[in-house]
Amino acid sequence: EKYKALYDKDFPPLKNKLIFQVIKGEKIHKVPVWIMRQAGRYLPEYRKGRANNEFFKVCQTPELACEVTLQPIDRYGDLLDASIIFSDIMVVPQAMGLVCEMVPGKGPTFPEPIRKPEDLKRLTDKVNVDDSLGYVFDAITLTRQKLDGRVPLFGFSGGPWTLMAYMIEGSGSKTYSKAKAWLYNHPKDSKVLLQKITDVIIPYLVGQLIQLFESNSGELSPQCFTEFVMPYIIQIVDKVKEKTEALGYNIPVSIFARGSHYAIEELSKTKFDIIQVDWTMDPKKTRETAKAKVLQGNADPSLLYGSKETIYQNVEKMIEGFGVKKYIANLGHGMYPDHDPEHLKYYLEAIRDVSSKKLK
Ligand code: CP3
Repeated sequence: EKYKALYDKDFPPLKNKLIFQVIKGEKIHKVPVWIMRQAGRYLPEYRKGRANNEFFKVCQTPELACEVTLQPIDRYGDLLDASIIFSDIMVVPQAMGLVCEMVPGKGPTFPEPIRKPEDLKRLTDKVNVDDSLGYVFDAITLTRQKLDGRVPLFGFSGGPWTLMAYMIEGSGSKTYSKAKAWLYNHPKDSKVLLQKITDVIIPYLVGQLIQLFESNSGELSPQCFTEFVMPYIIQIVDKVKEKTEALGYNIPVSIFARGSHYAIEELSKTKFDIIQVDWTMDPKKTRETAKAKVLQGNADPSLLYGSKETIYQNVEKMIEGFGVKKYIANLGHGMYPDHDPEHLKYYLEAIRDVSSKKLK
């Protein structure tokens, strides 16, 4: 295994361990925070760098991916407590042999999606993750060096159902009806596909922390969630834990089952260390349901269109609801391209100020 070398000892020691301290239940001085899509189009420095480079070219070029990953860390300094590697969930379907392009204004698009069960034959049989996704490992290695221990680095993957949905729809969709029709008409083939995706995700997931994005899970009924999401995300967390524990590590894993309110209690009983919560969920009720599990989230990204005062007041309520322990702040979904970077700063400062007062 070429990438066995992603050991902590090979990298500069971590100076900011807040997230790990929260997971261990240790004493902290403020609630840690990071933001989904913290590297992205809302940052002028990102738009400038992207101008000459196609989206997936940035993902595939470790120097560029590293540069973009560091942009929010350089800009916000110690207001941020984690970084997330610049990449996309679509690199996994690409590694499985499907062409996926980032179409401006439309998002990720597959010119030849999977339509019928026979199309599964078009997928690469045994994906060699080191070969096909080695560029992500290289980007992670380089970024961990360049971060110099300032903050830990998240690796991530799309969840099996979310990736299956894109691979069948060919792009984002309002209803995901083509993909969901598979679950009802071809349940066996659906499971073959979900397992194929799961088998690529497991060896692919590296980083100091991991987040699994099951962003399309809210499209499913609770029954479909139980049958087509749970078994695969459980396999992923169990295998990732088993593998890393064998190497003497415990890598915290976070799950974002966006929109799946009904699943919080079930998820809180799994080995996932963190449950990311979207903004439609009430912090206090979610805390009661999830008991002592670490929760992450969840302000409406649109809060960042509000004034500094509005942002502060909402942060107070959010932290009141989740509590300052077993909690990592984030948004309820990613940054939008028209967000003002200054308003994200207000949000990060409010989290620092409100939580550090409560932790005194
Ligand atoms: O900073 C970070 O969060 C790390 C980078 C990251 C990106 N995508 C970069 C990106 C991460 C973690 C993702 C995950 C991702 N990608 C998800 C799961 C999270 C979620 O949003 O629910 C999904 C569903 C995707 C697929 C995807 N990629 C979509 C739907 C889009 C289009 C979005 C849009 O508004 O156009 C992308 C493109 C994308 N991924 C961009 C970035 C910075 C913008 C593309 C650009 O620069 O032109």
